[in-house]
Amino acid sequence: MKIKKVKNYEEMSRIAAELIIDKVRSNPSINLGLATGSTPVGMYEKLVQDHQEKGTSYKSVKTFNLDEYIGLSSENPNSYRSFMNKQLFNHIDIPIENTHVPHGDAKDPSQECAEYEALLKKNGGVDLQILGIGGNGHIGFNEPGTSFQSETHIIELAESTRRANARFFNSLEEVPTQAITMGIASIMQSKEILLLVSGQKKSQAVKQLLQGDVGEHFPASVLKTHPNVTIIADEAALSEVT
Ligand code: F6R
Repeated sequence: MKIKKVKNYEEMSRIAAELIIDKVRSNPSINLGLATGSTPVGMYEKLVQDHQEKGTSYKSVKTFNLDEYIGLSSENPNSYRSFMNKQLFNHIDIPIENTHVPHGDAKDPSQECAEYEALLKKNGGVDLQILGIGGNGHIGFNEPGTSFQSETHIIELAESTRRANARFFNSLEEVPTQAITMGIASIMQSKEILLLVSGQKKSQAVKQLLQGDVGEHFPASVLKTHPNVTIIADEAALSEVT
């Protein structure tokens, strides 16, 4: 794993966006794996700004999001589909049919998982996967204990994850209890992975990632076994690392 230490959230967002823009310009039909949550918001803003000012085109790019809440339709403002449309897709020239987010309101969520995994494979997999990390080490919504062999599957969200994400909902009760997530094996298939980490509240997770053992108790630790991972972490996120 390569680690790029940056000053703060702003610098993390800028460097991540520059890296993506470079990749999109050199491979206009790249498959990008995307994440939601607070971490990539600044990076998406910079991608939009670059598209508007410099014209980087996403016409042939395909995107595959990591996860979606079960039970939320794509129109629900708290769905990850809505988040992606609002943060990125509505502001760049990507054809919406090239953007993929699991359907949280699928009649048969297990079938939706199988279809999403098949879609990834049919498209040749992800070239560059963007990840954030949960305080408990989750990547995608793969909570501690998830098998490293897992493909896209249904997950029971950890209580800590529901609490962390309750800030987007009116109350904790409204936060769904389950999600569809790409599995650890699905994520590990990506040719390249970029993990973004910012802020003091992620410092313990970063410490465990860098100094702890590889094991299913801490999902992000699997990244140590991938040949092409870059972590962009800011000073606050690295503050516990000695
Ligand atoms: C989001 C996702 C999650 C988040 C993680 C960190 O699609 O898969 O793993 O990356 O929960 O969330 P934030 O960035 O909100 O701290």
